[in-house]
Amino acid sequence: MGLRVCVGGVTGWTGSALAKAVIDEPDLELSGAVARKAEGQDVGQAIGREANGLAVVASVEAALKASPTDVYIDYTHPGVVKDNVLTALKLGVPAIVGTSGLTASDYAEIAKVADHQGLGVVASGNFSLTAALLQRFALMAAQHVPDFEIIDYAKHTKPDVPSGTANELAERLGKVAPNKPGVPIDKIIGPKEARGADVSGGRVHSVRLPGFILSAEVIFGLYGERLSIRHDAGSSADPYVGGTLLAARRVVTMKGLVRGLDNLLFGPFE
Ligand SMILES: NC(=O)c1ccc[n+]([C@@H]2O[C@H](COP(=O)([O-])OP(=O)(O)OC[C@H]3O[C@@H](n4cnc5c(N)ncnc54)[C@H](OP(=O)(O)O)[C@@H]3O)[C@@H](O)[C@H]2O)c1
Repeated sequence: MGLRVCVGGVTGWTGSALAKAVIDEPDLELSGAVARKAEGQDVGQAIGREANGLAVVASVEAALKASPTDVYIDYTHPGVVKDNVLTALKLGVPAIVGTSGLTASDYAEIAKVADHQGLGVVASGNFSLTAALLQRFALMAAQHVPDFEIIDYAKHTKPDVPSGTANELAERLGKVAPNKPGVPIDKIIGPKEARGADVSGGRVHSVRLPGFILSAEVIFGLYGERLSIRHDAGSSADPYVGGTLLAARRVVTMKGLVRGLDNLLFGPFE
């Protein structure tokens, strides 16, 4: 028997690619599938594959109570991800958080429940390998160049700002290099929004336009020189699938919350 995986958001852009990979990988088994509009449909047919006898259900609780599950993976919506993950943990199932939109205090709550339950959770604003490298390289740079700003690019229909990638980057960089703007924000002349949002002390500027998929850029500034580190996602969900499944295979032996795929790949950033 393979690792039993329940996918939340199974009919979505990311969730459907993930479910196909779970079906294809010999060491994994699709044990649950969550989405509202396809409720009751065979999951194989709902994602463009052969029927496989598993029905899509509308809630995480129903999915996890219907079949034994080793790991729950969430790629749903920022408005429901926290409840979904807490539900999984309370039902004794480790979780992977792919959905964006959670704040540091949401993660603190999730970490508390994970610790209490003795279960693992892996969350990453971006589960692609090259995005994990952006996170790690940016953290290394911030140790030497503490002044930075982040630009977060995404398609015009993305509802949440900043993206999970940019948010996580800002929070983590803020711990390494608390930013001090040259002109304090309350002394700015003109609209303060033009200086972006404060995320953990860093300034984050969200661009939402057709033509972008998802990119994150950190600009580090020193006197007389600059460094830009940028990640651009292509149009396929494959990079997220690879990193998510890597996390799913490891989370079952972990306890507590790990944020950032790079921490899973390289160990905690010191
Ligand atoms: N961390 C990463 O690497 C990464 C990568 C890609 C995407 N993301 C994030 O993952 C999330 C999903 O992205 P996506 O592009 O795959 O979205 P999407 O294509 O809109 O898919 C969302 C899926 O969630 C389901 N869903 C939405 N609301 C739900 C609810 N209340 N209860 C149950 N199911 C619900 C949808 O089906 P129904 O509407 O029928 O319920 C659909 O199956 C976003 O927050 C995105 O930013 C993160």
